[in-house]
Amino acid sequence: MEESVQVGPWAAEAFVDYEKLLKVFGAKPLTDSEVRYLERIAGESHAMLRRRVFYSHRDLDVFLSKYETGYRCALYTGRGPSGSTHLGHILPWIFTRWLQEKLGLDLFFQMTDDEKFLHEEKLDLLESNSFAYENSLDLIALGFDYRKTHIIIDTEDIGYLYPIAVRIAKKLTYSTQRATFGFVDSTNVGLIFYPVLQMAVSFLPTELFGEETYVLIPAGIDQDPYWRIARDIAQGLGYPKPSQVHNKLLPGLGPEGKMSSSKPETAVYTTDPPDVGAQKIMRAFTGGQPTIELQKKLGGNPDRCSVYKMYEMLFEDSDAMLQERYWSCRTGSLICGDCKAELASRVRKFLKEFQEKREKARDQVDMYLIRSKFDKPSLRSRTVLR
Ligand code: TYM
Repeated sequence: MEESVQVGPWAAEAFVDYEKLLKVFGAKPLTDSEVRYLERIAGESHAMLRRRVFYSHRDLDVFLSKYETGYRCALYTGRGPSGSTHLGHILPWIFTRWLQEKLGLDLFFQMTDDEKFLHEEKLDLLESNSFAYENSLDLIALGFDYRKTHIIIDTEDIGYLYPIAVRIAKKLTYSTQRATFGFVDSTNVGLIFYPVLQMAVSFLPTELFGEETYVLIPAGIDQDPYWRIARDIAQGLGYPKPSQVHNKLLPGLGPEGKMSSSKPETAVYTTDPPDVGAQKIMRAFTGGQPTIELQKKLGGNPDRCSVYKMYEMLFEDSDAMLQERYWSCRTGSLICGDCKAELASRVRKFLKEFQEKREKARDQVDMYLIRSKFDKPSLRSRTVLR
């Protein structure tokens, strides 16, 4: 029986007890030896691994050994386009981009304009669909390789997924869906079907490549419920179980909660004018004391600080500098105002440079769409499935 958790696809806090969450979800913590295994294959270390921003997994070791043995492998991740992209969203994409480059893998990227239309009362389908294109610019700006990156927009590319989805759907009861996703009597039926489409992409590479393909899904821990079910039914449908590696959630800039589109004042969007992004940082809630005197005397709490987490998860490459910041805060020699001002200037610079790349991406979107590269898998071309 699952305890009530504050993390799932449609709700997530930020300063959660991640260890407890693993027990409830049944995923495994990422060990030093697994991190070393991945870094050995990648030929490079990554701060998000060293710092355990990516901190848990399901069968990452299996995926890596299949990769090493020469099996076909692919990456899969996605976005629910309900609005502009914020820094929390790009966190797993930055890591995914690194994996793509180091492992030379195809990435399947799902834009769930249907999910967000079904879930957000006020969002029109045309809006979520146009956000799918807008959000694609963020993905492209991160430098993904168009030859290996395939964006699926659910409402337009449903033909790629539907034959797989109906096979999944037949294996799933309403009672499993309800227990996993917390559906109630008033939940619309679209949302009840939707998870099947998110699971379907984990099996799509096997269909498209016509051979058993091992898939790794780098994504926030909030998305884990989909994969628990997908893994349960994979082999019965003739597909390898998809593996996952989970990231922690970047906190919002307010006192609590993850960075979330539903709280725009506490999120920095990739489209915020650089000065607006910097101002949001300057107004952020910190783990500091109410006055400078108290801060100097008692020190702050970086473990509960949205500003420190931004450094740790995204804006500080050097482990030594991060450590120094941590202890300067703890011992009271670092004042929140100074710590924020430095982050604000890094965020301003990041936004300025990112937005230039984002604008250039506008005429490249077509090259990334799955429909510009793959034919839809036909029911008859199934080489792997029984
Ligand atoms: P969405 O749009 O809510 O989130 C997109 C990705 O961003 C992660 N994420 C975060 N990571 C760190 N800090 C945060 N504050 C934060 N907020 C969100 C999410 O975990 C996710 O990885 N249903 C999905 C769309 C989807 C998908 C997928 C996501 C379809 N297929 C496969 C991941 C993998 C959604 O609405 O994501």
